[in-house]
Amino acid sequence: MKIAIGSDHAGFVLKNRLRDELSAEGHDVIDLGANSSESVDYPDFAALVSEAVAAGKSERGVLVCGTGVGMSIAANKVPGIRAAAVSDAVSARLSREHNDANIVCVGERIVGLEVALAIVRTFIGTAFSSGERHRGRINKISGLEQKP
Ligand code: RB5
Repeated sequence: MKIAIGSDHAGFVLKNRLRDELSAEGHDVIDLGANSSESVDYPDFAALVSEAVAAGKSERGVLVCGTGVGMSIAANKVPGIRAAAVSDAVSARLSREHNDANIVCVGERIVGLEVALAIVRTFIGTAFSSGERHRGRINKISGLEQKP
């Protein structure tokens, strides 16, 4: 799968570990930065990954900051993005099955490598439950983007 990944300084170490693991598992991972632990602003990297996903250049996105929260708030401002900040694999699965989330956000200060890997693998490996009720709710989310 084509995956765009990004972080700020607080997610830099975990982002690199996730990138390397996903690449080793055969995914086509595009690393959009950050490129060091020097302080940067998470919305800049949320924008890069979100725009890649929204434009169809990547199927899914992974964003890492200190908590995952700032990244998800910023990513969800980009039309077409449904970003889920999660700290466990069950939420990651349900964010795909029920919400058709296309970006997962995790916090390096919140979860360790093994939990983060379980989250991201689950997120990538789970399909949307294409049931009518879930689709209708996603359409309502898209409708919110059209409001002035
Ligand atoms: C950076 O210190 C931190 O605020 C950021 O990584 C993130 O946790 C914001 O939500």
